[in-house]
Amino acid sequence: MFQINENYQKLPGSYLFSTIAKKVAAFTEANPGKDIIRLGIGDVTQPLAPAVIEAMHKAVDEMGKAETFHGYAPDLGYDFLRDAIVENDYKSRGCDISADEIFVSDGAKSDSANIQEIFGPKNRIAVCDPVYPVYVDSNVMSGRTGVYDARSETWSDVIYMPCTMENGFVPEFPKETPDMIYLCLPNNPTGTTITKAQLQEWVDYANKSGAVIIYDGAYEAYISESDVAHSIYECEGAKTCAIELKSFSKNAGFTGVRLGYAVVPKDLKCGDVSLHGMWTRRHGTKFNGAPYIVQRAGEATYSPQGKAQLKEQVAYYMKNASMIKSGLQEAGYTVFGGVNAPYIWLKTPDKMTSWEFFDYLLHNANVVGTPGSGFGPSGEGYFRLTAFGSYENTLGALERIRKL
Ligand code: MLT
Repeated sequence: MFQINENYQKLPGSYLFSTIAKKVAAFTEANPGKDIIRLGIGDVTQPLAPAVIEAMHKAVDEMGKAETFHGYAPDLGYDFLRDAIVENDYKSRGCDISADEIFVSDGAKSDSANIQEIFGPKNRIAVCDPVYPVYVDSNVMSGRTGVYDARSETWSDVIYMPCTMENGFVPEFPKETPDMIYLCLPNNPTGTTITKAQLQEWVDYANKSGAVIIYDGAYEAYISESDVAHSIYECEGAKTCAIELKSFSKNAGFTGVRLGYAVVPKDLKCGDVSLHGMWTRRHGTKFNGAPYIVQRAGEATYSPQGKAQLKEQVAYYMKNASMIKSGLQEAGYTVFGGVNAPYIWLKTPDKMTSWEFFDYLLHNANVVGTPGSGFGPSGEGYFRLTAFGSYENTLGALERIRKL
């Protein structure tokens, strides 16, 4: 008789965004004809940039001719894309990362869930609280998180680093020593970030304590302040303690196209063992490469036209962010984020819980957001709105919320 991975049985409820989708579907069924504005999941709404579309068409045509057809992609990504990544995302920022340290993937969600596989089962993970649920859930699935306490909504073996209004959403060094530290900066869900100097302290801490940092930089394109690092490798010593995960979803609208990459520096070692070698082995066995057409699309995001068009797209979403932020502030809400990230994090009014506010907003304004408590216990009493909607819908949602 086969057995199942019992760790899956420990997962409470369904994945946050699946729960929200189910609730919204039930509401829509009970209230047909209601015009719902969705500012919940951070899914983009603007079409792919013309430079990207052009590159994809060209790549599709190549696939239609024997001479230019492409089968399996190289496990770790095509050189044309890895070289463009190094030039634009690293060399231009003074980071010494080479093309063979880049592992092209189908997105940062998969990478952030899969990366824990190369670490031992007894490692203690530390996460910001609130946190992107994938980091914790993937560690639950692999049995690294201990026992779940439904009352506090915490796992016995996870080290939580509360990020709240009181500490300016800056994680503090934990009392217990973690082995793996997950940092997402600029942050999902709070939309806040830390300075390069503060990030340097984390790098120093990790190097000193022998921890590895899993650094999720999916929202890097939204950084507007000059003292914020665009890559953890801008910090001295990061190559011996950090893996960086990047996505094309948020900066280039690839949520439905799927492309991302991980940087695993060769200097990152556990004793004599190279994590770069391990991730190469893992990628080779479990992944057959992102599609050629998609990697060509990724390359196009780094062309002069691609860069200019994506800059405009980021500005479009950040205009939404600043409109939501100032609009809610004027309406008396306490609001955070939205300066270096496309997320607005607000205090729920009248001491409502996050889910109470979710229901209130859905029923009274027909607006969908994400309850802060879905990201962890310290998210209770907060609520997240995404700036990835269309301008018209964002304005509409704001008007409805202000009228409540
Ligand atoms: C979010 O809404 O937090 C993100 O869209 C989720 C993701 O990127 O997977």
